[in-house]
Amino acid sequence: MQSIMGNCFGQSAKCAHASSNFSGSTTERHSKAKLQDSTSSSEKTVVPLGNSKTKSSINCKADGSISNKLKSFSFIDLKNATKNFPPDSLLGEGGFGCVFKGWIDENTLAPTKPGTGKVVAIKRLKPESFQGHKEWLAEVNYLEQHRHENLVKLIGYCSESEKKLLVYEFMPKGSLENHLFRKGVKPIPWPTRMKIAIGVARGLTFLHSLDANVIYRDLKASNILLDSDFSAKLSDFGLARDGPTGDNTHVSTRVVGTQGYAAPEYVATGHLTPKSDVYSFGVLLLELLSGKRAMNDEAGTFVDETLVDWAKPFLSDSRRVLRIMDTRLGGQYSKKGAQAAAALALQCLHTDPKNRPAMIDILTSLERLPTSNVLPRNPQGMIDNHRGKHFNHSR
Ligand SMILES: Nc1ncnc2c1ncn2[C@@H]1O[C@H](COP(=O)(O)OP(=O)(O)OP(=O)(O)O)[C@@H](O)[C@H]1O
Ligand SMILES: [Mg+2]
Repeated sequence: MQSIMGNCFGQSAKCAHASSNFSGSTTERHSKAKLQDSTSSSEKTVVPLGNSKTKSSINCKADGSISNKLKSFSFIDLKNATKNFPPDSLLGEGGFGCVFKGWIDENTLAPTKPGTGKVVAIKRLKPESFQGHKEWLAEVNYLEQHRHENLVKLIGYCSESEKKLLVYEFMPKGSLENHLFRKGVKPIPWPTRMKIAIGVARGLTFLHSLDANVIYRDLKASNILLDSDFSAKLSDFGLARDGPTGDNTHVSTRVVGTQGYAAPEYVATGHLTPKSDVYSFGVLLLELLSGKRAMNDEAGTFVDETLVDWAKPFLSDSRRVLRIMDTRLGGQYSKKGAQAAAALALQCLHTDPKNRPAMIDILTSLERLPTSNVLPRNPQGMIDNHRGKHFNHSR
């Protein structure tokens, strides 16, 4: 599932996040080693992505469209909206395919001239991606059914035989990965990092609170998209699935996700619970604190293989805990806030999932973190303290 930027055009291409100050032309993909069937399928129940409940909820109408809540675009529409998917409109590339900037009319959603109307992000599935078709369907299902201010909004889709595309709201600041790890990018100030952590925690709390106990399963910096004010939204629901309900303690699945973020018990057994997301959240919190990737990168910023292995000894020693902090913060953070966030990360990373806190409790702790003794360097760093908004269905 690893891919290198340039597959979209057979050459290296520039990313078109116009409003962000990235200078790099390639996306580094060190943390993207995907986990797939790491143990033999005979050793555990293999459940396809999306259970029967999810599948039966797909509203396939006679005209071939999936849902009347989403706009069904023709391929020609999306070709026009992007002016034929040119390299200079490329926003990024993942395992699924390439993401382009496009323009549509705010009201009719018809394609408009580039630079006019509403900006959208259009993800185009690579034709050779077999797994991608299942993920495409899961993504449409979950994002069509669940709307929340911390989940990226799906506007529509295109499904014309092998041509599968998704049309999302455009997120002007791109992915958290680009801001945290890309060289030459202005470091994100501490209050903004905590604002992002709170946004992600709100999104996950919302998913875990649904009747279906939805498990996101692919939490990582590249799947967190940022709005113009650095509000965070979860994207990529291709691996999401309904969690255990009733007396069931877990669901059994084949192991998918991303190395460095996936919970150890899930990787070992395929047993999935909402606490798997909590572990990944702990890893993400460590990335926000340390500015280091979940998996060691080429620069070898730490000796151990994973960020968790490297950071754990510091996290459990209150005198040394601040040694994990990102030096690019220049000491501009609340010491107490950082210590509390590190303690929270340690709880999330507990080897026994039962001892990890629930997302709702993590959210409450994050909202209470002391941040006040560090003034944000710019208004974007202000903490958005809208309490009680976790269950705001925007539909
Ligand atoms: N709605 C959006 N608005 C703006 N940029 C986006 C949007 N969706 C995706 N992008 C950009 O495109 C990049 C690729 O996204 P994509 O989800 O395809 O792959 P990924 O998350 O990087 O990798 P993976 O396939 O492993 O999940 C993102 O990192 C981001 O920079
Ligand atoms: Mg992604």
